[in-house]
Amino acid sequence: MRTAMVVCLCLVVAVVLGALGCTPKAAPPPTTGPANALTQGAQTAPAGDLGEQIVKTGIGAKGQHVAFTGGSDRFKAKPGGCVGCHNEDGRGRKLPKGQIPPITYSALRGGDKPLFPSDDLVIRAMREGKDEKGEALQPMMPHWQLTDAEATAVLSYLKQFDLMPPIPEKGKPAAKPEAKPKTVGKSEKNVAPAKPAPPAG
Ligand code: HEC
Repeated sequence: MRTAMVVCLCLVVAVVLGALGCTPKAAPPPTTGPANALTQGAQTAPAGDLGEQIVKTGIGAKGQHVAFTGGSDRFKAKPGGCVGCHNEDGRGRKLPKGQIPPITYSALRGGDKPLFPSDDLVIRAMREGKDEKGEALQPMMPHWQLTDAEATAVLSYLKQFDLMPPIPEKGKPAAKPEAKPKTVGKSEKNVAPAKPAPPAG
């Protein structure tokens, strides 16, 4: 008798839970950045991943280094990917003189007033070394002869940088405080945190 009751109770509980829809729900996928040409028009399928390959090594779809003009002497002597200059995390880096800007997708296209108004202008920056206004970037930034597929793949990969934790700056040599580094890019620098208010009264 007793066992029957217990079984019965269990059944009731199960039915009630089922009716309440107590099934674990999958969390909605995180949304990253505004909708753009990439997600609307061009295919976003992970291009195997050509973008990552170019960004990390400079090797294009044909298995050779993407042709380029310009770039630093060091880069010309030993060409690599974007990360050699823009850093492994895409956050850019400080140079003795100036700074290499970040190329995370959010740095270029994020926010209400993105630095680059369109993805196409970011691609133009990569290919023609022109900033968002069409003015020439520093010649250190190579002009990459990327095919459309390569350019789209690179642009798509820039979003991966946003998912990576920033690399901590390692033992940076104490910069002279008065020597304000010339900002080469236009990215915002972190603002000093506000001082905590003194305790009242
Ligand atoms: C040899 C170093 C070097 C390499 C390699 C390099 N860049 Fe740059 N890049 C720069 C410098 C320096 C600037 C800043 C130029 C300026 O502000 O005038 C820059 C600027 C940019 C900008 C414009 C950013 C802004 O804030 O205006 C984009 C986009 C960019 N690079 C993308 C790339 C991509 C994508 C790659 C790889 C395919 C790449 N870069 C490889 C040095 C490099």
